[in-house]
Amino acid sequence: MLIGFSANIQRPSKTRALVEEIMAALGGGFGPAHLHDLSDTARAFGGALHAGELTGEAARVLAAIERADALVVASPVYKGSYTGLFKHVFDLVRPDALYRKPVIVAATGGGPRHALVVEHQMRPLFGFFRARVMPTAIYACDADFSDGKPADTTVRARIAEAAGELLDSRPAFAA
Ligand SMILES: Cc1cc2nc3c(=O)[nH]c(=O)nc-3n(C[C@H](O)[C@H](O)[C@H](O)COP(=O)(O)O)c2cc1C
Repeated sequence: MLIGFSANIQRPSKTRALVEEIMAALGGGFGPAHLHDLSDTARAFGGALHAGELTGEAARVLAAIERADALVVASPVYKGSYTGLFKHVFDLVRPDALYRKPVIVAATGGGPRHALVVEHQMRPLFGFFRARVMPTAIYACDADFSDGKPADTTVRARIAEAAGELLDSRPAFAA
């Protein structure tokens, strides 16, 4: 199962739209696919100091992240980094739950200046988990979107590349 997780807390959301495009590029290659965004569960996650305090949808989202065969994770950039709630959700994930899990990391920001957040902040976080982060990470800013969807040709090429890399990880996934 493929799980998409987007840390947006508003809708419509560019971050969610980016995850949707990445998941579409994967074309069902990991079987059933589900996309969760934080706009429904942000307060539940934010009020939990430990995973055991989560109930309902937030508990289901955490379990889905931990059980996924592959992940597409994305955050809006807030103050030059992933959002506090994005980090908080992954603070609640068991340290060994993402071991060897193939992951695409992505982020959106208002402008181009924080493009390396995917390399300097998201990639090391999933390095902690010893996940298999795909070589191609994706960043898109306001100017890269048209009609709410990522339209920039470079961004779209990176989506295709990252999706191809995740699909290439499937032999290990099937084994
Ligand atoms: C509190 C806050 C802080 C932000 N900080 C940054 C920032 O440091 N750099 C940046 O490029 N954009 C920043 N933005 C803009 C968002 O990253 C950008 O609009 C993002 O695409 C929003 O994603 P969403 O549509 O999924 O909510 C900030 C927005 C908010 C609300």
